[in-house]
Amino acid sequence: MKTLLQIKSSLNGDNGQSSFLSNQFANKWLAENPDGRIIERDLSTTPVPHLDGERFNAFLTSPDKRTPREQAIVDFSDELINEIKSATVVSIGLPMYNFGIPSTLKAYFDHIARSGITFRYTSEGPVGLIEDKPVHILAARGGHYAGTQADSQTGYMNAFLGFIGLHDVNFIYAEGLATGGDERELALNKAQDQITKAVAA
Ligand SMILES: Cc1cc2nc3c(=O)[nH]c(=O)nc-3n(C[C@H](O)[C@H](O)[C@H](O)COP(=O)(O)O)c2cc1C
Repeated sequence: MKTLLQIKSSLNGDNGQSSFLSNQFANKWLAENPDGRIIERDLSTTPVPHLDGERFNAFLTSPDKRTPREQAIVDFSDELINEIKSATVVSIGLPMYNFGIPSTLKAYFDHIARSGITFRYTSEGPVGLIEDKPVHILAARGGHYAGTQADSQTGYMNAFLGFIGLHDVNFIYAEGLATGGDERELALNKAQDQITKAVAA
């Protein structure tokens, strides 16, 4: 069954601009794929804990030696990994906060980067173990960064997603959202046109 994994990370929940675009993407995707299903992962309403020493050690401990608490940590990480593995397409609502990605999204990434499960190192370098699939990123920003060195998100997202095997990454930017006037509406309209094209492609 076609499955969209819809990841949202706005601290404003569904009132966020990136969530608005993400929901537009999901609605349009469902209209194109009426038999499809959507798995929603809203990192503001159900945050993933920060990766600390206990959690990382749980990942490294062999299954027969894990305590029940460690097993629960690994089970949660496995659940997130199974979600993204089972998806045929992924969307990520990506606000820019303080020149970076939301810390909630970083915590999520820290739980799906698992050696031997989503990546492995070889003599030729790292190899991603998640089957490649389209990833659409709905990037909402107060200012303008796309195509400049100040865009800390685009390179990072490509690097991380590529590391776990996801290379088919499409960015849809809505920029200048904090500048007031017509610019916000124009940027959101442009992004929605791009969403329509991306879903139909
Ligand atoms: C805590 C916080 C930090 C922000 N930092 C930046 C920033 O560094 N650069 C920028 O262009 N906009 C920044 N903004 C504006 C957001 O990128 C903009 O409001 C965007 O719509 C956020 O996405 P959201 O509405 O989905 O939450 C910030 C907003 C907040 C709330």
